[in-house]
Amino acid sequence: MDFDAGLKEKVAYAESVINRYMPEVKEELNKTITSAMNYTMSAGGKRIRPVIMKAVYDMLGGNDKVIEPFMAAIEMIHTYSLIHDDLPALDNDDYRRGRKTAHVVYGEAMAILAGDGLLNYAYETAAKAFCIGDNFDDIAEDNDVNSLKAKLDARLRLERAMTILSHNPGIYGMIGGQVVDVELTGSRLNEEQLSYIYINKTGALIEAAMTIGAVLAGAPDDVVDKISETAYNIGIAFQIQDDILDETATFEELGKPIHSDQESGKITYVTLHGMEESKKKVEELSKKAVETIKELGGDNEFLIELVKYLIHRTN
Ligand code: IPE
Ligand code: IPE
Ligand code: MG
Ligand code: MG
Ligand code: MG
Repeated sequence: MDFDAGLKEKVAYAESVINRYMPEVKEELNKTITSAMNYTMSAGGKRIRPVIMKAVYDMLGGNDKVIEPFMAAIEMIHTYSLIHDDLPALDNDDYRRGRKTAHVVYGEAMAILAGDGLLNYAYETAAKAFCIGDNFDDIAEDNDVNSLKAKLDARLRLERAMTILSHNPGIYGMIGGQVVDVELTGSRLNEEQLSYIYINKTGALIEAAMTIGAVLAGAPDDVVDKISETAYNIGIAFQIQDDILDETATFEELGKPIHSDQESGKITYVTLHGMEESKKKVEELSKKAVETIKELGGDNEFLIELVKYLIHRTN
């Protein structure tokens, strides 16, 4: 199967997983929250984070359903971050994923709550992985040491995945990056500040997606570290490409406003280094990411193609 068809299939699978785990919009008093949460979630988006999580999981030999709640959870966290990122108090953008932003349609209060709702529901969703497959229900009757060890290992992997899922989006990750991004909007950033912002506001969720895939697949620590190193390069490249597209793409391609960074006075990699240098940097970081993936061996073809697609993407 060629890459485009393969990607389409994997995005459709991610969509189906997300839909299965999203809360239903029911006729009840709190209907506005489920409706607002589903509004931005169902608008589409590239679904890169769940797709890359599953790609790493598959590459490293994972073959269980426990990955699915985590795929849904990472997209919920990402979507919450977008709803809040677009608020008037932050980037003040009116379009996202080709639709009016949540705060334009539902009002600011509901958009804040929909973001909160998605963030919280992400953990409620990921916790469902503890009830999938081999669990501890029959532990009292299990006298086989190997089987007990396998169950314990599976449980420890889930705990590690949960730790990553709660750490990376937080104050030492995505939120930390957003704080510095917001605080320094309008100022001339130095390299250290810029790279702090990119590593955290964007890199941290991509790193969470990829390392959760690796941890749940049961990869040893040195492999998880390599995946983390790859994710670091992909994360920075992904954000620089986002900055490039903010200047070069059309509204129709992006589904979000163009020239938003310039209008809100943000200094980006492109402002600091120019367009040519930025494109070169994206290529260079992506090459590094591909090299690290190659070192890991295994069935890595899709992941390598995915990284290349991320650099040449137009949306
Ligand atoms: C947008 O992320 C925010 C950034 C981190 C640059 P995506 O480009 O993955 O947005 P969607 O999910 O496809 O809408
Ligand atoms: C990504 O940065 C921010 C998030 C963590 C949500 P941007 O502010 O550049 O993302 P877009 O361009 O609005 O998607
Ligand atoms: Mg922003
Ligand atoms: Mg923004
Ligand atoms: Mg942007």
